[in-house]
Amino acid sequence: MKFICEMVILSLSVIIIQPSIIFSRELGSPNHIKTATFYTKKFVLEPGKITRKNFFDVKFPRGHIGIKNLRAELVDEHGNSIPLYEAYLHHYFIFRYFENITMSQYANKSQPAYGKYFRRNDGVCQGYVNSISWGLGGDARKTSVELPDPFRVEVGTHPENVPKEYDEEKWFINILAIDTRGTEDKKGCSQCRCDLYNVKSKDLENTTSVDGKSLFSSDYKGGIFCCEKKSQCKLQKGYKKEQKRNVTLKYTISWVEWDQHQVPLKFYILDVTDQVTYNGSKPIHNCAVEYSITPKKTNEEQYYIKKTNVPMEKGGNVIYTTAHIHSGIVNATLYGEDGRILCEIKAISGTGKEAGNEEGYAVGASGCYPKPGSMKIKDGEILTIEFVHENKYTTGLMGHFYVYLAEELLKSF
Ligand SMILES: *[C@@H]1O[C@H](CO)[C@@H](O)[C@H](O)[C@H]1NC(C)=O
Ligand SMILES: *[C@@H]1O[C@H](CO)[C@@H](O)[C@H](O)[C@H]1NC(C)=O
Ligand SMILES: *[C@@H]1O[C@H](CO)[C@@H](O)[C@H](O)[C@H]1NC(C)=O
Ligand SMILES: *[C@@H]1O[C@H](CO)[C@@H](O)[C@H](O)[C@H]1NC(C)=O
Ligand SMILES: *[C@@H]1O[C@H](CO)[C@@H](O)[C@H](O)[C@H]1NC(C)=O
Ligand SMILES: *[C@@H]1O[C@H](CO)[C@@H](O)[C@H](O)[C@H]1NC(C)=O
Repeated sequence: MKFICEMVILSLSVIIIQPSIIFSRELGSPNHIKTATFYTKKFVLEPGKITRKNFFDVKFPRGHIGIKNLRAELVDEHGNSIPLYEAYLHHYFIFRYFENITMSQYANKSQPAYGKYFRRNDGVCQGYVNSISWGLGGDARKTSVELPDPFRVEVGTHPENVPKEYDEEKWFINILAIDTRGTEDKKGCSQCRCDLYNVKSKDLENTTSVDGKSLFSSDYKGGIFCCEKKSQCKLQKGYKKEQKRNVTLKYTISWVEWDQHQVPLKFYILDVTDQVTYNGSKPIHNCAVEYSITPKKTNEEQYYIKKTNVPMEKGGNVIYTTAHIHSGIVNATLYGEDGRILCEIKAISGTGKEAGNEEGYAVGASGCYPKPGSMKIKDGEILTIEFVHENKYTTGLMGHFYVYLAEELLKSF
């Protein structure tokens, strides 16, 4: 369970180890790309409350396949998209794991990961930090992770670095959703502001950030740890609690059967909080996952810039790049070591009321599709990540570049 402790995302009391499907649908298409929509088991939201869910062994396409696209969102019981100002989907994380059934039948509530081996993505953060295979948040309905043909994420095989006795591939989904109906400060609740959740600095005295710093001494004002400690965000005075609401995570996957025409991709998450140190030539990553902006009164700059350098042990051809951003981020740039621009991302802001276009929220990020073979990252190259933000008080920000690399291209390119 160490990976989850490090990411501080699991609340052990809510583990459900049942497959969780309401409905699924499969469509064949002429070019053999299949698409199916799945739903997790229903769960309940309540005004001002945080809901965390963990679903082991969720429905997922099986066999040796290549995933082309995966998108997910929160929907109500009728399948309607829920807008961010009603329920803020802080994140959904999809993890790939391998299970030894003989062992895992002895798993119990306190150790649900017993007998399961989590396979992280290709890098680059320490341990199991940012180890998801897919995942974004509600403010990313317009962010695409669709991969161009014939590039895929290959699954349904047994990776060499997974011990043989863990033989069954399965999928795990972790969700954190915040119901902001009736709250005094919807944005503050979405950003997990400690004061709105009535978390005092004393409550954090034994808590350390993902990169191991004491939150007590760092004057932590908001972020995932305050959403972890308590579960009720401040409601408006006199607000009469509306009904609870059943919701589910709807996720749609496109894939192909694997064959010699498919080209496998590596998936890297580069985190703008990563403070890399070195042991000899070996990089040691220190990703904190989240960060906050507290502008000084004397600082009237319009923008706040956060930047870091991250070495890539293994390079490759850049096939697709996008970013996980939050409201408050204006744009983000990924640079090569020589200063060349590998990708520029722009935040997409909502302009209306409907889900996916909520005014006042970021609703997605753009992406970059360079011509395959035209843009390469060298082995050992040090990349620079830069995120530009509005210079205003914001907590629980995430600035993560999602980079898909092909180590080999097909001859035809
Ligand atoms: C089940 O829980 C108990 C107590 O919480 C623990 O000691 C034990 O190791 C657990 N069993 C497994 C297989 O993890
Ligand atoms: C599962 O683990 C048990 C105990 O370590 C081992 O005996 C068994 O061979 C494993 N199962 C498989 C399929 O490797
Ligand atoms: C922190 O740890 C100490 C020592 O174990 C304990 O007495 C204290 O109650 C803990 N504080 C919190 C807020 O959990
Ligand atoms: C949620 O679903 C449960 C079980 O299907 C049902 O009993 C309950 O009435 C529903 N709650 C709401 C608020 O719709
Ligand atoms: C640095 O690397 C060496 C050789 O791999 C290892 O023995 C040592 O423990 C490492 N030091 C740290 C601080 O990680
Ligand atoms: C990001 O936004 C800032 C402020 O508007 C602007 O100066 C900069 O050129 C933008 N960068 C990119 C890559 O769009």
